Amino acid sequence: MVFPPRPSTVLRYVVPALLLAATFYSLDEPAYYLSQLGPLFLPAAWSGSAKYRPSEHPIDGLIKAAEIEFADKIAKATRTLPDAAAAYRKRRGRHPPPGFDKWYEFAQEKHNAIIVEEFWDQIYHDLEPFWAVDPARIRSDARRFEMRLEIRDHKASTRSDWFWTQIWLEMIQAIEHLLPDMDLALNAMDEPRMVVPWEDIDKKMKKAAKTRMLVDPKRVVSEFGQLPPAQWKEADEGGLPEWEHEKHYWLIARRGCAPSSPARQAPVINDFDRSPSIASSFGLEHMHAGYVANYTLSSDFCHQPDLQALEGIFVEPLTLSATKSILPLFGGSKLAVNNDILLPAPMYWKEEDRFTGAEGASIPWSSKSPTAIWRGVATGGFNRPTNWRAFQRHRFVAMNNASQLQLASSSPPLNFALPDDRYGLSALRDSSNNNNNDLAAWIASTTNISFTDLFCSRPNPDSSSSSSTTTTTPSHNAKEEADECHYVTPYFSTTHPLPLSTQFAHKYLPDIDGNSFSGRYLGFLRSTSLPVKATLWREWHDARLVAWKHFVPMDSRFGDWWGILEYFAGKDHDGAGVDEVNNKGGRDEMAERIAMDGREWARTVLRREDMLVYVLRLLLEYARVADERREVMGWVGDLM
Ligand SMILES: *[C@@H]1O[C@H](CO)[C@@H](O)[C@H](O)[C@H]1NC(C)=O
Ligand SMILES: *[C@@H]1O[C@H](CO)[C@@H](O)[C@H](O)[C@H]1NC(C)=O
Ligand SMILES: *[C@@H]1O[C@H](CO)[C@@H](O)[C@H](O)[C@H]1NC(C)=O
Repeated sequence: MVFPPRPSTVLRYVVPALLLAATFYSLDEPAYYLSQLGPLFLPAAWSGSAKYRPSEHPIDGLIKAAEIEFADKIAKATRTLPDAAAAYRKRRGRHPPPGFDKWYEFAQEKHNAIIVEEFWDQIYHDLEPFWAVDPARIRSDARRFEMRLEIRDHKASTRSDWFWTQIWLEMIQAIEHLLPDMDLALNAMDEPRMVVPWEDIDKKMKKAAKTRMLVDPKRVVSEFGQLPPAQWKEADEGGLPEWEHEKHYWLIARRGCAPSSPARQAPVINDFDRSPSIASSFGLEHMHAGYVANYTLSSDFCHQPDLQALEGIFVEPLTLSATKSILPLFGGSKLAVNNDILLPAPMYWKEEDRFTGAEGASIPWSSKSPTAIWRGVATGGFNRPTNWRAFQRHRFVAMNNASQLQLASSSPPLNFALPDDRYGLSALRDSSNNNNNDLAAWIASTTNISFTDLFCSRPNPDSSSSSSTTTTTPSHNAKEEADECHYVTPYFSTTHPLPLSTQFAHKYLPDIDGNSFSGRYLGFLRSTSLPVKATLWREWHDARLVAWKHFVPMDSRFGDWWGILEYFAGKDHDGAGVDEVNNKGGRDEMAERIAMDGREWARTVLRREDMLVYVLRLLLEYARVADERREVMGWVGDLM
């Protein structure tokens, strides 16, 4: 795609999409939409030709492209069961699973969910390889896990009292009356478990593709089978494959990439006791003029081998237990290459204030401080004297520290790179002779970013290698911390944690991965502030969010951070030194609009009800793929 799109191109695509969207909304009633139709769909520059100001900024083009992508997506919404079934067959190449009519009723009639078949793409991505696994093996593997849910006779139960399992149980109980018998193995760790080699997955996908067909409706079996009663014998985990505990996760993760990919080809980095090389050229494939243009691709590391020294997960994750075998294991988030099956993460279902910041979530944009805030623990994995410079949160905090920016004018920064010239930052125009003073002053006045805990104290790091579930608690004793954190205290100081509701008094919310995905993201989306998201993690909701429409995407090297900040917030937060056009004429409004669109969309398609609709669809598919008769099972009520 060409950015920014030429007006004629935009007109050709956006107008039909808008008409379709308008038809959809006039027939259906997510009420807020009717009132928002105009401003929601029209890029600001178009909402009146008098206001149109030509602009060269690449972000303008990305925002316009996102409007089109979003309008196209929702124009595909279906409003009847036969239409939904037809959209299913077209996209999936199979009949919908048995119970599809009940699913539809639950989604549409009961919960007024928007039905766009694409919204469930993740399910098909996750389950497709299992069409090449013997169903009996799927069922027996699931039963071997200690931590599992069993559904029999429309009742879900578990023997595990692990709090995540309990939350997932509660979620699944809300739909148990619609579920067939099944066993669900759950991953208790933060980190995902499976990386099946690319070559094996490729074979499985080819085999699975052969089962993809629309069998004659007269032959279709539309009832699920029953399973023997839950037994709750001791789980026989001994029958499962050996778990690998390789601490250098890059070595494991990259086998999920294609053999010809840079991740498989590039030399492995073993020495993290140095400043990482932040080679932005690896980001070019997913960027346009310095900004993320393909967000899905940006979160895939197979073309980005430099990330092996820029992300804690690859350097030394906190807990690790991996396998090459494919197992029917469910979890809350995963990297692009992991084969785990995604459920909505427990903290999203639970909606604790700690993750949602409920009380601050509706602060009006105009009364917020035009600044970026971030608080968090120095997680990402085990940080040590010899590897901390490779950790993403450490990189992000350091590059937002005015004193480190100033020091960087005389000696190279330890763990980040100064802004590239191509961003043309105002703050750097005269910095060559003033020791980065302008840059430092701008960052000091526009950001408020610090760790709340350096997370470097632990009992005995090396004892963790034998046990996959060892976790550590950071020390809160100042003296102990000073001793154990000697390698980072020259560069970082901690501040008190701030509840999300307080953070929401700031306009910009950068979101940086911790040990795995960031559990506050849903809270950020639902707030009236603007999330700026860099991530390598995939979640259940990815197919329903559009980058630059509902949130601002950021590259995992963070080289675009300052450009994003200047585009939306201007050079100075009080407006001094910012040209009028940038500051008053729309970029703050642009930020506000993305923040509000994201909020409204999250309240429409990321509700707890939407999580249930997702899980119900997922589990109907899972029960089918684990059934001997799967190739002839389906719902064909509309064809009979
Ligand atoms: C974005 O990248 C994905 C691969 O991850 C690709 O399938 C998709 O076509 C790309 N989208 C665009 C708009 O180029
Ligand atoms: C950063 O935020 C904290 C908490 O709200 C506040 O106490 C502090 O003064 C802020 N720092 C700056 C430099 O604005
Ligand atoms: C900023 O960097 C300086 C070293 O240049 C360090 O002393 C200070 O603690 C850092 N501030 C924060 C908030 O991490």
